[in-house]
Amino acid sequence: MTAFNRQVLLASRPHGAVTEDNFRLVDVPIAHPGLGEVLVKNEWLSLDPYMRGRMNDVKSYVPPQKLDEVMVGQTVGEVVESNDTSFKPGDRVLTPLGWQLYGVAKGTDLTSIDATRIPASYYLGIVGMPGMTAWFGLNEIGKPKSGETLVVSAASGAVGSVVGQLAKIAGCRVVGIAGGKTKCDYVIDELHFDACVDYKAGNLFDDLRAACPDGVDIGFENVGGAILDNTLRLMNRYARVVICGLVAEYNATQPYGYTRLRSVLVNRIKMQGMIVFDWHDRYAEAREALARHVIAGQLKYRESVIVGLDNAPRGLIGLLKGENFGKQLVKLT
Ligand SMILES: NC(=O)c1ccc[n+]([C@@H]2O[C@H](COP(=O)([O-])OP(=O)(O)OC[C@H]3O[C@@H](n4cnc5c(N)ncnc54)[C@H](OP(=O)(O)O)[C@@H]3O)[C@@H](O)[C@H]2O)c1
Repeated sequence: MTAFNRQVLLASRPHGAVTEDNFRLVDVPIAHPGLGEVLVKNEWLSLDPYMRGRMNDVKSYVPPQKLDEVMVGQTVGEVVESNDTSFKPGDRVLTPLGWQLYGVAKGTDLTSIDATRIPASYYLGIVGMPGMTAWFGLNEIGKPKSGETLVVSAASGAVGSVVGQLAKIAGCRVVGIAGGKTKCDYVIDELHFDACVDYKAGNLFDDLRAACPDGVDIGFENVGGAILDNTLRLMNRYARVVICGLVAEYNATQPYGYTRLRSVLVNRIKMQGMIVFDWHDRYAEAREALARHVIAGQLKYRESVIVGLDNAPRGLIGLLKGENFGKQLVKLT
């Protein structure tokens, strides 16, 4: 065991795009677990778009990240020392310990994982929070029916790739939107979506209309801005729109001015924001269903791995520019 714990703290709040100056690395002694607590050595850190939102000091669905504290985030790691009878050294766990190499958590805040069945890192992605977001957003709000057309943005990413594949299993025509030919080729050739529109090609509306000859019945929105506005133009009557994320706006200093709300009215569209925490009581059910699909080879999955905690800030900056290709992770050991 190294003699110290390295941590990444939030040093300052970004104005617009995140920069490396917004973070500070510190080395501190490794903490010891008290009664009911567990010391974990983190192996994988998840980088997620929501982290950008937490860096702002604004009211949201959870309180902001505090300055000079360890950056928020989920990790997967190994129990080193335990004062909770539910865990023993060597156990693999999902944790809320954030951007650090070691951490002490209450046993009640840890989730045991079975890394013999599914790779440990998948608990941060396809069978973790992003996969469950896709599962509940699609099934509980999108409510896909066979023969319907679904459009999902950030289609090659952690949430979008799962949404599209689950919608294919449900019998939908699935159209992805992604940035660049390489991502679009992957979405069609590997994930087997019916079409994928490269929004960076400069012809978003016409390309989307060509890919959706029968209009759009379900929009699964991960990006927002012009992508949502143009998708709204193609919506069918009684369409559903899942507002899962607005990543195109996270670094923006001004909100995007939406112009297509009229489509919501005339088409009687149901548009609903979702936060995956609302299904917390049903995580086990979703995790198990997703794991079965992964084991059966019905869900493909891709990871984008950065090595070393020191590189985590660069990883988040890149994620918010679409530089990741699949679920963004930091390998810590
Ligand atoms: N509501 C919830 O409970 C919940 C939970 C998890 C995630 N989310 C949301 O779901 C969305 C996807 O998250 P994820 O973890 O799966 O990330 P991801 O899709 O793996 O990665 C983010 C992707 O967003 C796209 N992107 C980034 N910046 C962009 C920009 N300025 N304009 C357009 N596209 C941009 C990029 O894809 P392209 O290169 O294809 O553009 C990038 O690869 C995010 O909005 C996130 O906040 C919501």
